[in-house]
Amino acid sequence: MPGRHFLQIPGPTNVPDRILRAIARPTIDHRGPAFAALGREVLDGLRHVFQTSSPVVVYPSSGTGAWEASLVNTLSPGDAVLMFETGYFAVLWRDMAVRLGLTVDFVPGDWRHGVDPDDVESRLVADRDRTIRAVAVVHNETSTGVTSRIAEVRAAIDRAKHPALLLVDTISSLASIDYRHDEWGVDVTICGSQKGLMLPPGLGFNALSDKALAASKSARLPRSYWEWQAMLADNRNGFFPYTPATKQLYGLREALDMLREEGLPRVFARHCRLAEATRRAVRAWGLEIVCANPAEYSHSLTAVMMPDGHDADALRRTILDRYDMSLGTGLGKLKGRAFRIGHLGDFNELMLAGTLGGVEMGLAAAGVPFEPGGVTAALELLSAR
Ligand SMILES: Cc1ncc(COP(=O)(O)O)c(C=O)c1O
Repeated sequence: MPGRHFLQIPGPTNVPDRILRAIARPTIDHRGPAFAALGREVLDGLRHVFQTSSPVVVYPSSGTGAWEASLVNTLSPGDAVLMFETGYFAVLWRDMAVRLGLTVDFVPGDWRHGVDPDDVESRLVADRDRTIRAVAVVHNETSTGVTSRIAEVRAAIDRAKHPALLLVDTISSLASIDYRHDEWGVDVTICGSQKGLMLPPGLGFNALSDKALAASKSARLPRSYWEWQAMLADNRNGFFPYTPATKQLYGLREALDMLREEGLPRVFARHCRLAEATRRAVRAWGLEIVCANPAEYSHSLTAVMMPDGHDADALRRTILDRYDMSLGTGLGKLKGRAFRIGHLGDFNELMLAGTLGGVEMGLAAAGVPFEPGGVTAALELLSAR
């Protein structure tokens, strides 16, 4: 089809031309001085995005690898972990923890709400013997468009005076939704390259805390590739213990420059505004937003329920065939029942207008009952100063 494909899934996101050009540079010697300078620059620059003064570890991996790294570096076989069923990704992380031999207390959820900080507090207070070693939370559930309130979860852990580590998955929130590793007392923040960081998939991140590093000294889960200590030792000189993803790191340097130029507060405000415009469109169409609590609306994606008897994947197919736009499929128990609009990363008002235009035309073309006027409702907000 002529024109650009609209990639409006909630990650991987559109890679800006600046980053594509940076990645296109020739590969360099990963043991030479030019690489050391690149390594130091990106490792240092990443701290700004995670809002931390602690080290950030970078793996040539997807986000799933970074999940695994956070668990195997801090925990021992049989350790108890408190996790919450916020959606599909929380379920996958739980499954991984179980496979690794951890004992998971998985708090059931309805996939429409985030983690309840009061529930965190009461469960930790009830854990009198302090057997829970970690609380693991998905900040932004990419399957549902629900953002858990990490600062409040931290406050709940503190109120309970519980020593558990706090592990947070920010794969679809970092560099899109305000997130503060140090201020919120997070011990390991997990991320991937392919969403707010605007890079192709292929890099995984762990931001650490002193407490997490101390835990890693006695953690006994088997690990080799994911070992933080070996990574940190080589990172001190800008190098990696194995062949790094050189070209991804060129891209990362460019992404960090772009985020610094725009400024994190403006990046977060842009995502907030585009998310609100999207929700106005959805409401005007008479469709239901999956997230049930407005205090937990995601700024990086909106998941939309289909009217009964209508298949979300049939709608997505129509939109792809007619308008060359990809929307996110419903995941897990939302398969066929919901679709997801990604509004994160390298994204602006006209791209959102095009995206919502594609959805509105697609709803009509697929015979889904809806009220016209969603695009108009969004444009009203976007055109207000
Ligand atoms: C919140 C969240 N956690 C974990 C993952 C898994 O990451 P990956 O697919 O890069 O392994 C994803 C992927 O979309 C995600 O959105």
